[in-house]
Amino acid sequence: MKTIFSGIQPSGMITLGNYLGALKQFVELQNDYNCFFCIVDQHAITVPQDPQKLRKNIRSLAALYLAVGIDPEKATLFIQSEVPAHAQAGWMMQCISYIGELERMTQFKDKSAGKDAVSASLLTYPPLMAADILLYNTDLVPVGDDQKQHMELTRDLAERFNKKYNDILTIPEISLPKVGARIMSLQDPLKKMSKSDPNQKGFISILDEPNQIVKKIKSAVTDSEGIIRFDKDNKPGVSNLLSIYSILSGQSIADLEAMYSGKGYGDFKGDLAEVVANYLKPIQEKYYHLVDSSELDEILDRGAEKANAVANKTLKKMENAMGLGRKKR
Ligand code: TYM
Repeated sequence: MKTIFSGIQPSGMITLGNYLGALKQFVELQNDYNCFFCIVDQHAITVPQDPQKLRKNIRSLAALYLAVGIDPEKATLFIQSEVPAHAQAGWMMQCISYIGELERMTQFKDKSAGKDAVSASLLTYPPLMAADILLYNTDLVPVGDDQKQHMELTRDLAERFNKKYNDILTIPEISLPKVGARIMSLQDPLKKMSKSDPNQKGFISILDEPNQIVKKIKSAVTDSEGIIRFDKDNKPGVSNLLSIYSILSGQSIADLEAMYSGKGYGDFKGDLAEVVANYLKPIQEKYYHLVDSSELDEILDRGAEKANAVANKTLKKMENAMGLGRKKR
């Protein structure tokens, strides 16, 4: 059976973008692959975090993974910092990375632009992501569009390692969803929807209540044409809403265009808000049932145990290949 690895940062409220770009795929893939899903808390501290909030976000993300349908009997769910091999292999990956290639990462450029105090880890984040993936002999990495460049680097680093040392790392492929790989901000449809957006109206959180969802969708930026049709270049706002509507309702974009022909944005947005709220309701119920449960801790303990066993095997091989320690382990 082929192996999948993916991770999400516990750096804020999980958005509809994270769900449609990543989580929804995970649920579908867990039936056919050996899956490892990670809460990448070490990635989250590349920018300042309030320790108490981070702890809360880690638990919250774990509960959300399960609430959307990750089945711990099928997939391994764990927290990155509970598997020390990630940081260890991350260091090795840093040692074979070049500063130039890390500086070229668009996410680094975006996150560091205009700041005078940029943490070193913001630059060395992609080698840690590479380590996350490579430790599990991963074949496939389901992610959203914004992780493409990091995935290319991961492949480059794995190939470089294999060439320089022993041929031990599996070269992973990226898996993007057919639709929903890039859900845009509701307030600026040229920017991706992001959980770290200071403007709360830009994103829908999986835990938003129906009245918040209505407010956010009603105030979503559209255009003055007044026609509901898909045209990404000229109507990015409406097209983004159509994509969300289509994925969550299972209706095709063409069907939705026909359904709303002659109707205005008000009707369209009202219906979409209802679709989103109804879709999220059972997820939220499951989430609140799980988040403070001991069942969640048991699942994460079992996940860490399984992940440690697999990751440590690869770590040993990597250390042996690089010549670390006094003798082969
Ligand atoms: P993160 O935490 O920013 O996002 C988690 C996942 O959600 C996807 N995503 C989106 N998809 C569609 N539309 C959007 N607006 C949107 N915003 C986010 C992301 O593409 C991602 O799949 N570097 C990663 C975390 C990571 C990781 C890994 C991922 C660390 N190690 C190993 C895969 C494998 C990140 O910051 O994702």
